[in-house]
Amino acid sequence: MRMHRKSHLDERLASCSNLTMADVEEKNMKTAANLRDLLDFKAVFGNDNPVCLEIGCGKGGFICRLAAKNPDINYIAVEKISNVLIEACENAQSAGLKNVHFLNCAAEVLPRYIPENSIEALYLNFSNPLPKLGYVKQRLTHPRFLKIYEGLLKSGAKIIQKTDDAAFYAFSLESYESCGFEILEKCEDLAASGDADNIVTEHEKRFTEMGKNIYRIICKVK
Ligand SMILES: C[S@@+](CC[C@H](N)C(=O)[O-])C[C@H]1O[C@@H](n2cnc3c(N)ncnc32)[C@H](O)[C@@H]1O
Repeated sequence: MRMHRKSHLDERLASCSNLTMADVEEKNMKTAANLRDLLDFKAVFGNDNPVCLEIGCGKGGFICRLAAKNPDINYIAVEKISNVLIEACENAQSAGLKNVHFLNCAAEVLPRYIPENSIEALYLNFSNPLPKLGYVKQRLTHPRFLKIYEGLLKSGAKIIQKTDDAAFYAFSLESYESCGFEILEKCEDLAASGDADNIVTEHEKRFTEMGKNIYRIICKVK
């Protein structure tokens, strides 16, 4: 189903242009993936602080709270749908956050913007599980994506993934293991684990209210 373009989307995106670093929206993905417009993090954030990444940030509730909590860490949040991303940008802008910026592009084209070995941690929150077999390669934890992430992440960097979907959890675990990532945590009931620092995302809130279990994997790049 096609999403209606939000009214005044272009004007709204333009008014957040200090927070957004690309506007690709997947049109020429194959071409875009081979281009290089690498970001200069120091110029973007005005400091040399570590940089973490979230892919599929949705409306940005998670990244805005994480950025507010850790002012000495810089965050790049990636979302391929501009209709959704605009809400994240406006949230960050109204919160006055200086350490979060947004990339309006698909995960596939990240090597265009993110320098190799530059990212300290990657968050994957409630990525679409895409249960149909025909979409396996689109899952954000498919080995083809893990190879992309491995290139962007620093040695020893962590991937922190949350999902409500048991099959996607199992698929992701297998994928990390097959790509040689070290599994640090496999949690099958985040609420029961009593992690007081957990930042609840928009989807997580909805799934928790529905009584669903939240799964979390933390793994480490070699
Ligand atoms: C189910 S939503 C989860 C949103 C948010 N992380 C949360 O937990 O509330 C998944 C988001 O990932 C985005 N997404 C899916 N595939 C993507 C890709 N290849 N690159 C960037 N974003 C993607 C979707 O547009 C959607 O906004």
